[in-house]
Amino acid sequence: MASFTLQINGKPQTVEVAPETPLLWVLRDHLQMTGTKYGCGIGQCGACTVHLNGTAMRSCSLPVSAVGDKSITTIEGLSEKGDHPVQQAWLEHDVPQCGYCQAGQIMTASAFLANTPKPTDAQIEAAMNGNLCRCGTYTRVKAAVKTASA
Ligand code: FES
Repeated sequence: MASFTLQINGKPQTVEVAPETPLLWVLRDHLQMTGTKYGCGIGQCGACTVHLNGTAMRSCSLPVSAVGDKSITTIEGLSEKGDHPVQQAWLEHDVPQCGYCQAGQIMTASAFLANTPKPTDAQIEAAMNGNLCRCGTYTRVKAAVKTASA
């Protein structure tokens, strides 16, 4: 066990955990921040995506000891009132079906658009390609990313 003070959604949070504990479980089990989802646990599905200094990262594959003082943003902290442009586009396009993967989709999309504000369709396709959705909402995901970029 060791003590880690993490910067999460603009606030310091201290946890006592084993250094190899994935950030996903620190968020969910130690801080009760359950917006970030567990899908595969092996970096393959994207459900657990958070931002680390603005870059989309898979929190299931990121040991808490590797976070350091980098700034973590989770779906809970993406916007104050759920009104980030990506979240608004998600509502406009009625993207979710079961909803399980959607926090990860939104976190991937928002990091992507921050770095690529006017993406081509091919860039959207490539950026969102690694976020899996068992309901197959891919068409609406891509349309919403396009709307959020406009
Ligand atoms: Fe992290 Fe699937 S739960 S990529």
